[in-house]
Amino acid sequence: MKVTYYGHSCFAVVVAGKTLLFDPFITPNPFAKGIDLAQVPADFILVSHGHDDHLADAVEIARRTKAVAIAGFEVGEWLLKNGVARVHHLNHGGGFHFGFGRVKFVSAIHSSTMPDGSPGGNPGGFVVETPEGNFYYSGDTALTLDMKLIGESTPLKFAALCLGDNFTMGPDDAVRAADFIRCDQILGVHYDTFPPIRIDHAAAQKKFQAAGKTLHLLRPGETRDF
Ligand code: NI
Ligand code: MN
Repeated sequence: MKVTYYGHSCFAVVVAGKTLLFDPFITPNPFAKGIDLAQVPADFILVSHGHDDHLADAVEIARRTKAVAIAGFEVGEWLLKNGVARVHHLNHGGGFHFGFGRVKFVSAIHSSTMPDGSPGGNPGGFVVETPEGNFYYSGDTALTLDMKLIGESTPLKFAALCLGDNFTMGPDDAVRAADFIRCDQILGVHYDTFPPIRIDHAAAQKKFQAAGKTLHLLRPGETRDF
């Protein structure tokens, strides 16, 4: 599966010829200023929770691409009200089979207020199961024992885990999360964008290495195969 990183927690995965774009936050991110929003492809836009650093560009990209947004119920309602024409609502523990595979909305420990201050329901993450392999995106979350449920049921090719600390797991908890989900190939997200979430790349990668895992920290715009 080809994965392109767009900075912060925004990345795209190509599965069965479809582009799944996660948590689009590109135009407000100075580290992503090399990315041309008008060229970012999407067939599906998956939004983990209501915070602006996860959906700032969702409406604009959905309008241009006609992508289907996939989100928790309240975030989905907000997207519909704000100009996204096609929305598929999920709620925790529920999954749905789209053409490319099955998407399940799983728990995250965090908060979720929409940019206009309205409630965004409970935040989540996504487990995506496809014939080309499965992966997990944590969204913004603390380390939680619920992650063990994912490891017990779904073999993962890779996982995108938040690890910038302060608002989410830091690198130490992200290593434990990788253990819980039984995954050795980790794409780091939600780090460096703001001063409180700056991380030491080499130190974080060493922690994963010591646990027999690889932490991939991609540059915005970089693509790699998992
Ligand atoms: Ni957040
Ligand atoms: Mn965030």
